[in-house]
Amino acid sequence: MEDTMDDTIIAELEERMDAERTRTGPPDGFPKLPDLSLDRYTDPNLYAAEIAEVFGRSWLFAGHSSEFPTVGSYRVLDLPQAQVIVARGNDGKLRGFVNACRHRGAPVVREEAGRARLFVCQFHSWSYDLDGELVRVPEERDFVGLDKDERSLPRVRVESIGQFVFVNFDDDATSLEEDLGPMAPRMLDLARADLRLVDRKSHIVHCNWKIMAEAFLETYHVRTIHPEAALAVDTPGTLLQLLPNGHNFLAVPYTDAVDDAEFAQMMWPADLPRPEALRAYEGKQSGFFAFPNSQILGDPSGCPVFSFWPTSIGETRFDVTLYGADWGDAARSPSWDLKVMQLDILTGQDMMNLEPIQRSVDAAAHSGVPLGYQERGIWHLHAEIDKRLSVDRVPAHMRAPDLLADYVEV
Ligand code: FES
Ligand SMILES: [Fe+2]
Repeated sequence: MEDTMDDTIIAELEERMDAERTRTGPPDGFPKLPDLSLDRYTDPNLYAAEIAEVFGRSWLFAGHSSEFPTVGSYRVLDLPQAQVIVARGNDGKLRGFVNACRHRGAPVVREEAGRARLFVCQFHSWSYDLDGELVRVPEERDFVGLDKDERSLPRVRVESIGQFVFVNFDDDATSLEEDLGPMAPRMLDLARADLRLVDRKSHIVHCNWKIMAEAFLETYHVRTIHPEAALAVDTPGTLLQLLPNGHNFLAVPYTDAVDDAEFAQMMWPADLPRPEALRAYEGKQSGFFAFPNSQILGDPSGCPVFSFWPTSIGETRFDVTLYGADWGDAARSPSWDLKVMQLDILTGQDMMNLEPIQRSVDAAAHSGVPLGYQERGIWHLHAEIDKRLSVDRVPAHMRAPDLLADYVEV
């Protein structure tokens, strides 16, 4: 994999952002997109298919390797299919297991994160090692013909790009690197940077997961609902690159306001680390949307990540995670609290519209969703969902056909 975001790429992005700012309309020949059917947010069959065939077969963002610092470090992820434990084994590798005991299915871990040598089920104490092997069964004499070798914790694949960790339930899925395609080298600087967890929050929002994802796939809404952010980012200059497999890359130039020292100090407090590795993230807000549900932002001092986890057809868990450039042994700067507060304000603004949108959809208050050119990432998301489903699972009137293939950059 090539190194990423070199000067040539940065210069090209700048040129393209300029071109976006000055264009007078969509590129010649850009198609009129059909309205997205409102049924895509309410149809239970489509939802079931999304869970099984999209979330069940895609690489899902699972954290940063710094969250698994030593042998035995683990985190439990609440994914739509199942709870998954990601743990660092004795060989230093990360592995994933379904958090379901092979006896009667009780969880083998109850804490959200921690460090363990063995995973001991709290129902009858069957115990699993860091490879997920069943190593101890109390009163084993009573289990006729039990073969412990056949009762390991169910495995879930874990792969990483740099230090970004992803999981996948599908043994047959292509590798993470292949799936991310051109986005993998592009995100490497950020993914390799030494980051650490600054803050993580989860919000339950009563809307379909796609309504939430869509709010992070365009910057058209920024001037209306994010007045503070709108001072900093010049949204008409937004460059959105549609990438294969439903992914996309977003680059939004900063406004001249950031040249003001006071303003810049508010956005990037001087005492926060600004490592050379993140140099490419100066001058613009960058975002890597990893299909289906995570927007990973690149910032000169770190990396906010937004993930949208369906918990039911009309409910989504919104995980907001802030990773900051590692500050080593120094004390954590209070400036991180300012960054967290800014993120809270931004995400609060985003959430304001989502439940009302779901209510409008439920009431069929509008007939369908007309998407503008700036919103083409939303079509790209829906078209990729349909590609991953067997076509007969999406009724004809609801389909999002692959109309933007010519605009996908490979
Ligand atoms: S369910 Fe885990 S030991 Fe019985
Ligand atoms: Fe937003």
